[in-house]
Amino acid sequence: MKIDGRHYRTIWLESDGWAVRIIDQTRLPHAFETLRLESLEDSAHAIRAMQVRGAPLIGATAAYGLCLALRADASDAALDDARAILLATRPTAVDLRWALEDMAGCLDRLPPGERVAAAYARAAAICEESVATCEAIGAHGLPLIEAAAETKGGARVNVLTHCNAGWLATVDWGTALAPIYKAHDAGLDIHVWVDETRPRNQGAALTAWELGRHGVAHTVIVDNAGGHLMQHGLVDLCITGTDRTAASGDVCNKIGTYLKALAAHDNGVPFYVGLPHTTIDWTIEDGVRDIPIEERGPEEVTEIRGRGAGGTLASVVLTPADSPAANYAFDVTPARLVTGLITERGVCEASRAGLRGLYPESPRR
Ligand code: MRU
Repeated sequence: MKIDGRHYRTIWLESDGWAVRIIDQTRLPHAFETLRLESLEDSAHAIRAMQVRGAPLIGATAAYGLCLALRADASDAALDDARAILLATRPTAVDLRWALEDMAGCLDRLPPGERVAAAYARAAAICEESVATCEAIGAHGLPLIEAAAETKGGARVNVLTHCNAGWLATVDWGTALAPIYKAHDAGLDIHVWVDETRPRNQGAALTAWELGRHGVAHTVIVDNAGGHLMQHGLVDLCITGTDRTAASGDVCNKIGTYLKALAAHDNGVPFYVGLPHTTIDWTIEDGVRDIPIEERGPEEVTEIRGRGAGGTLASVVLTPADSPAANYAFDVTPARLVTGLITERGVCEASRAGLRGLYPESPRR
């Protein structure tokens, strides 16, 4: 997407043809900085420390992480070690496993001497495919927003979103935000309610930033405001992303998504989820029981980061020093609360039959 007129992706290959550059998302929205990744450890750290985040981008970064690892040592043992290190960075976003398995599919059978070139070619293809996939999600989601506009006689459509599932969470376009960009670019009058998304504020910091760069009208709200807005008819539809969607249609996304879906259900507000095929876990049926939920450090809850009076980024402590905190990073919205899944192949019901209808080739349990 464009930043001040210049097109950016979230990850790209440096001009030397081997090092990788990313946008450091921990510095946004107050500073636009990029980072050079030169090693497996640089890539793994970028995922763990959330310099890159969002399921599809985590997958793309892991793919390039393997490339950097193989440059150092392309042996079978090193390949296995690199995969294990990358897989262990974060447990919930299934795109990570998808990307590592996809890369394995083209690397394991090759002699070590051919692996580096093949890895870079596949990682680049994964990024290109992700961009096309996300743009297609935008195209299939646009009619949902157009239908809402028509229902309102062309009046402004208000969409609520949670966390950041925009181009910053993918390679480009985003998932949940892609239909919103398509609607904006098509001239529809659209406004986005942006959940701040505690504790790391991906909404307040990242979604607001990227919508602002693209000129999309938006308002940042506290996470607990959505239900009230829905009760007062101020939300026409919700669109979120997902880190892992079960074969049954259960959707795992940023903590707080489930509560948003409950409020939407209670107020008759359509609740859609944008996702690429890389985020579907065909091995899981019961999402609430079986999707691994990341628990991150309590300091993310007890402290908050922002720009201080002097313009420098700083953290302040919110809680009493002796109060413990728990930090569950994701939750699962049962399929019954999801109106539809917006994929690169179209929109379907959140169910096994719905997903299988769009992905007939998908593995059978
Ligand atoms: O912890 P994060 O920032 O990686 O969580 C990201 C989300 O929950 C997104 O909604 C999800 O990954 C979809 S990204 C297209």
